[in-house]
Amino acid sequence: MDQDQLKRLVAEAARDAVLALAPGQVLGIGTGSTANWFIDVLAPHKAHFSGVVSSSVASTQRLLKHGFYVIDANQVETLPAYVDGADEIDPSGHMIKGGGGALTREKIVASLAKQFICICDDSKQVATLGRFPLPLEVIPLSEASVSRAMQALGGTPRLRLMAGTSDPFVTDNGGWIIDVAGLTISDPVALESKINQIPGVITVGLFARQKADVLFVGGATGVKRVDFS
Ligand code: 5RP
Repeated sequence: MDQDQLKRLVAEAARDAVLALAPGQVLGIGTGSTANWFIDVLAPHKAHFSGVVSSSVASTQRLLKHGFYVIDANQVETLPAYVDGADEIDPSGHMIKGGGGALTREKIVASLAKQFICICDDSKQVATLGRFPLPLEVIPLSEASVSRAMQALGGTPRLRLMAGTSDPFVTDNGGWIIDVAGLTISDPVALESKINQIPGVITVGLFARQKADVLFVGGATGVKRVDFS
C-alpha cells in the first residue's frame, strides 16, 4: 500500500468515527494532504453536520468546493471533535504540526474541540519528537531574535521560503515560519511553554499540552486505533 492509500484509509476511519457523533453539530477540520482526504471522504455525508470550522484558507476552499457550510471559529464555543494530520506523533499523543504552515489556526480550532482525532500513516510515529524540524510561526520583525533564542536552546533554525524562491513563506495570518532542526524533545510540554515565552513567537508547532486524544494510524496491516486519554 502506498502512502496515499494509507491516508485514504485513516481518513475513512476518522469519517466513520465522526459519523457516530450526534448529528447537527459543528466539526473542526485540519489542513494538509491527509486532512484533504478526510474532507473528500466526508463530503457525501456533510449533511450530518450543521457546519464545519476550518483551520486554513486552503481547507476552506476545498470544503466550499464540496458544498460544506464553513463557519468562522468566532461563532462557535465548542466542537465535538477536530480531525487533522500530524508531522510527528509520540507514544503519548504529543505532536509536531505545521509542516503545511497552518499551525496557528490548527491550534485555535483544536482548542475548541472536546476531542483531537489525529490521522496519519505510521511513518509519522516516533519514540521522541524532533526528527521533523519544529515549525514556529513568528512575527516577521522577530525572525532574527527568535532564531537566536532557538539556537540557544540547541536547535538549528531556518526561515521557511516559498518553493523555488528566496522570499519568505507567508502564512494565512501574515506570519513567517522558522523550522528548527536538531531538537530532541524529551519534555514536549515544558518546551512548548518555554518557546511560547519568546517574544515574537505566535505559535509553536508542538501540540503537547493539547495533544491527540485518538489516533488512527495506517500501516502494512491496515488501520489501528490508539486512545490516549
Ligand atoms: C499543516 C499540518 C499538517 O497536519 C501536517 O503537516 C501533516 O500534513 P500531511 O497530512 O500532508 O502529511 O500540520 O500545518
